Amino acid sequence: MHTNTENLQVVVLAAGKGKRMKSDLPKVLHKLCGLTLLERAIRSVRGLSPKRITIVAGHGEALVRDHLESVDFGSAEMRIAVQSEQNGTGHAVLMAFDDLDPEVEDVLIIPGDTPLLREATYEPLLHNREAVVSVLTSVVENPYGFGRIERANDGSVKAIVEDRDCSDSQRSINEINSSVYLAKQSFLREVLPKLGSNNAQGEIYLTDIVGAAVKQGRSVRGAVCEHSSHVAGANSRYELALLEVVRRHEINKHWMDEGVTFEDFRTAYIDEDVELGRDCLIGPGVSISGRCVLGAGVCVEAHSTIQSCNISEGAHVKFSSHLEQAEVGPRCMIGPFARVRPQTKLGAEVRLGNFVETKKAEFGAGAKANHLSYIGDARVGPKTNIGAGTITCNYDGYNKHVTNIGTDVFIGSNTALVAPVTISDGAIVGAGSTITKDVPKDALGVARARQNNVEEYALRKRREHSKD
Ligand code: UD1
Ligand code: CA
Repeated sequence: MHTNTENLQVVVLAAGKGKRMKSDLPKVLHKLCGLTLLERAIRSVRGLSPKRITIVAGHGEALVRDHLESVDFGSAEMRIAVQSEQNGTGHAVLMAFDDLDPEVEDVLIIPGDTPLLREATYEPLLHNREAVVSVLTSVVENPYGFGRIERANDGSVKAIVEDRDCSDSQRSINEINSSVYLAKQSFLREVLPKLGSNNAQGEIYLTDIVGAAVKQGRSVRGAVCEHSSHVAGANSRYELALLEVVRRHEINKHWMDEGVTFEDFRTAYIDEDVELGRDCLIGPGVSISGRCVLGAGVCVEAHSTIQSCNISEGAHVKFSSHLEQAEVGPRCMIGPFARVRPQTKLGAEVRLGNFVETKKAEFGAGAKANHLSYIGDARVGPKTNIGAGTITCNYDGYNKHVTNIGTDVFIGSNTALVAPVTISDGAIVGAGSTITKDVPKDALGVARARQNNVEEYALRKRREHSKD
């Protein structure tokens, strides 16, 4: 963007309850593609390097404050202004006055509930900063619920009229107010304190600064945004969901442009902070959320869920697996139906098969647990094979204990490893064992009742029964 943004500060309106969401959570903390609406608003302006970003919080202020601690404001100073009673968008800006940087005239005001705003959206407003107030507008098919832009014959903006306050002819105007404004601080300080609340909602409307400017004979610039979805507010869950579809499509299209194949891009849910390598293959119904990095050529089959994981190149996550906060090495094979829980670390070419659950477990390169196992609080050495039905008994009812399994170990099927316990390199554990003592290097550990065969027992039973 070729805009001079050095002399700019931002106010984000985020105090409203969001009544139409019908939620205990403030509206701006609802998420779209993994990021809250508020975080999205802040990210959209971060690249403009504003001197200061002031967030107006009110409804759910404590929750909003907590959330803001984890948000990156880039080089901008962050301030929180409090609007304890939500008396309207104009009142919200009044409440921010004490937190404005007095040195910075240009104030970009943005709504906190407009999730698809992005840096480029502000360009039409920022490239011409002469007017005391400019408003970003958009022409939409269905203007229902938005403030309408009334233009004078010369094309300048005359007024903004809220949906509820519209006359029939005003209601048919389809140029709407985005709630994004660029205003001079001195002008805001002059007019805002004088605005009334004589409208359908009895609130102080920020939109009325336009009428106030016109009254003073100053011209108001209306800059049109070509992409109406970028300035659409999310007032209800349905509106939010519709915008999420738009963003999800953009994200998936971006990754396709980067060389990712989607078997059905309409049903793959890729969050904002996910990175996909070239030649990744993403199946239908896959969800990849949080911060994830997938290396080149990773395949994620249908209906798998991946949350906050690093997955190295060439790994293959088969049908319906669930991975959470795990590190997966190159060319691992996981699933189908595997559950890889937090703090699992897999080296290269590890295999975890169907109905295998891991938690806080490290697997060395080439280790395998192919069927029906629980491996928790464990270290499994390279090349070790864990037989079907192996359980690390890591919990004694009070504490968790560690199971240590060395390199090239063979654990027979249906083994219970009662932690703390160590199976050293090269050892074999007989199938069906309940191992409570360490097994030394290269030894065989067996812990099960000896087998007793009773000759011809079955034959005698059959004969007894055939007499009846
Ligand atoms: C507002 C505009 C409308 C515009 C629409 C665009 C006004 C009066 N109306 O309507 O012209 O078309 O946005 O999406 O400005 N907020 C506060 N304090 C308050 C009230 C609201 O901080 O007292 C915040 C909300 O948290 C929200 C933003 O301001 O992030 C907009 O408020 P909202 O109630 O959603 O306004 P709309 O009815 O959508
Ligand atoms: Ca809104």
